[in-house]
Amino acid sequence: MEIIKWDKTFSVNVLRFDEEHKSIILVINRLNAAIQKNDERENVSDALNAMTLYAISHFKTEEDYMTRFGYPEYELHKEEHREFTRTTIGFCESVTNGNYNIAYDLVEYLNHWLTNHIQGTDKKYTECFNKNGIY
Ligand SMILES: [Fe+2]
Repeated sequence: MEIIKWDKTFSVNVLRFDEEHKSIILVINRLNAAIQKNDERENVSDALNAMTLYAISHFKTEEDYMTRFGYPEYELHKEEHREFTRTTIGFCESVTNGNYNIAYDLVEYLNHWLTNHIQGTDKKYTECFNKNGIY
């Protein structure tokens, strides 16, 4: 079952970012499907790896454009990215401490964070990025 379905309401009108958002949504849906089958242990690690990469690579690309184009809401946006990064580290620490029982919390967190962030915060940069030739 898909917990989040990517549709036009998630589009930020920048192809690369839409593709990256789709790929992290795929990670949540895969983890959610694994929970239904009681087979989430390996998927928890996969999800955390994907979240870590996402925080390093995807956020940096978005933030680089924001600084380059003088995006006015850069600091607020970056603070949301930081919050995601801190939470990801917290989940990683749970697993390091032997607590794999975080799959459900992980899905819930990702579902709410990504939906709010992409549909609320990310979409605000569309006009600025498009105006600067980034589609
Ligand atoms: Fe973002």
